[in-house]
Order: sequence, then C-alpha cells, then structure tokens
Amino acid sequence: MKRILTALQPSGILHIGNLFGAIEPMVKLQADENPTSPSGLRGASENLLFIVDYHAITVPQDPAELRHNILFATATYLAVGIDPDKTILFQQSRVNEHTELAWILNCLVHMGELERMTQYKDKARGKGEAVSVGLFDYPVLMAADILLYDTNVVPVGEDQKQHVELARDLAERFNSHFGETFVVPQPQIRKEGARIMGLDDPEKKMSKSASSEKNFISLMDDEASVLKKIKSAVTDSGSTITFDKTRAGLANLLTIYSLVTGKPIDQIVTEYAGKGYGDFKIDLAGIVSTYLAPIQEKINDYLKDETKLLAILDQGAARAKTIAAKKMELVRQKIGVKL
Ligand code: ADP
Ligand code: TRP
Repeated sequence: MKRILTALQPSGILHIGNLFGAIEPMVKLQADENPTSPSGLRGASENLLFIVDYHAITVPQDPAELRHNILFATATYLAVGIDPDKTILFQQSRVNEHTELAWILNCLVHMGELERMTQYKDKARGKGEAVSVGLFDYPVLMAADILLYDTNVVPVGEDQKQHVELARDLAERFNSHFGETFVVPQPQIRKEGARIMGLDDPEKKMSKSASSEKNFISLMDDEASVLKKIKSAVTDSGSTITFDKTRAGLANLLTIYSLVTGKPIDQIVTEYAGKGYGDFKIDLAGIVSTYLAPIQEKINDYLKDETKLLAILDQGAARAKTIAAKKMELVRQKIGVKL
C-alpha cells in the first residue's frame, strides 16, 4: 500500500492558504475506504501527518508558546477533518527514531549539499556566524522524517522540493553503501491553483510572515475582520467579475470563493454577471465567515479538552513508533552497530 506523508511546523494560527494548500489535500486522501491497511487504518493509502516541533526549534521559540502551538495545530487538523483513525497524526519529538536516524544521515550528507539549500541560505542571510547548526541541519532531520516510514509520496509546497530531493539522494546513497534499506520518495508538488495569494498583494503568496495583517485570513478571524480584510483586498480598476489571471487580485478572490463553496469558477462568474466588486466582496466575506464558524467552534472545543488531544497524540505516536522502531532496527543492523 502506498504511504503518503507530510508534516507542518507548529507555528501558531494557520491561514486559509495553509488550509487549502496543505491540510485539505490530506483530508481528501482519507476519502477512499480500504479496511485492509497493515496498520489497521482505513483508507486507500496509509497517511501520516505530523507536527514537526523539532524543526520549529531551529529558530528561537518561547517554550509556553511552543506547547500551545502544538496543541493548537492538533486541534486545527482535527477540526478541519483529519480523522485519527484514518491518518497517523502525531508529534515528531515523541518518536525519537527521527533524531536518531538524522544523526546517521548526518554522517552521509555532505556540507556542500546543505550549503546549497535555498531555505537555509534565505534564513541564514545576515546572521553571520550566529546561525544555529540546527538550521543548517534542518533538511537532514526532514530526510529522516520521510525515510523512516518508507514513504512513497511526499505532498509539499514548491519551496520544499529541494529538501525532498535531498531525502531521495540520501536514500539512494544509503542503499548503495549498505544495501537496499530505504524507499526512494517522490515529491508531489501542489498545483499553482492551490496557491492562495496575499489579499494586500496578489503577486505574492498569502503568508503569516507577511508584513500586514491584511495579507491573510486566519482560521480564527471573526466576521468583522474577514469583512474588513476582503473589502480592502487589492483588485484592479475593472468592474465586471471575470476570471483572468492578469487580474490577479480578483482571480485570487474567485479562487477562494470556489475553494470555500466547492463551486467551479465558471459558475461563480455566471452568477455574478452584471454585478460589481462591492457585492461580490460582501458575499465572499459572508461565505468565508460561515465556512470558518464551525471550524472555529471545533478548534475551541478541542482546546478545552486537552486530555482528549493528548490521548489522540499518544495513539498517533504509538502507531508511528511501531513503524519507525522496526526501520531503525534494520538501519542499525545495516550499518554494523547492532551486535
Ligand atoms: P507561511 O508562509 O504562512 O509561513 P508555511 O511556509 O509555514 O506558511 O507553510 C505551511 C504549509 O502551507 C506548506 O505546506 C505550504 O506549502 C502551505 N502554504 C503556505 N502558504 C500557502 C498559500 N498561500 N497557498 C497555499 N498553500 C500554502
Ligand atoms: N520543512 C517542511 C515545511 O516547512 C515541514 C516538514 C518537516 C516536512 N518534515 C517533513 C514536510 C517531512 C514533508 C515531509 O513545510
């Protein structure tokens, strides 16, 4: 059975870009029922989704905030439809095989390979000698995350492709040094359409690190903020509602409308024939708020019941551990440390 794995950093409240770009595809994967999965999960593929808290600490984190963000991320995934009986949902730091395998891969990776990583170069820029070794080593931990589970497919954004390619190189290198051990994973890069652009600047992707709050709609935004943000979203000087990529602001709003309602863009355009941007924006704000309300309620409910969240994470860690521990036994044997 195909194994599909992805992971997200616990970095506070998510926005609708994260939801439609990263989490929803994992929710959809759960749709096909198949009761014969080896780990007892239901679904046509075996899916793993985890919170990479050890990646998060490659930049400074406030401990209390990090703890909250891990729980918040768990509550969010559950609220938007991740079913812990169909997806192995867990916290990276709870399965210590991740860091153990990262060490072994550290001894195979070359300095030059990590120095070439675009994300590292971006994040280290301007920091001089003060950049942490963890930030440098980040892609090796990510390779361990992937290889530990014999992952076939890794759905990620374009920015993570280079990291998945390193995981492929390390799998091949390990296999050629020590014999067939790891599955060589395939990155699955999301289509351009799954990219939500910033409301204040539709040329750049929606991002929580944008300089203005008006850039993104967070999953926890109330009705008034959603309305304010959508009303002030950058559009062109036209007046009709049509889908045209050169009118990037409007195209982005139509994409959001379509993702939230499930209606094809053509149908939305037909419905708004003869109407202007004002009506369209007010309707969209209403639709987005109505969509977010039950999600927000569920997130808050989960957060009130920490014991339940912890139990779900315990169950996920136990399932992940079963796979990871077996793989590590094989790895130790292959490299000669198992006596
Ligand atoms: P951010 O830029 O807000 O910090 P991250 O880089 O933490 O987001 O991305 C988390 C996940 O969400 C990644 O899988 C990424 O590909 C996806 N993602 C982030 N922004 C968007 C967006 N605007 N549209 C679609 N997917 C996105
Ligand atoms: N580096 C990824 C990101 O920032 C998160 C991540 C860590 C990941 N380990 C992974 C993604 C393994 C896919 C598979 O988005």
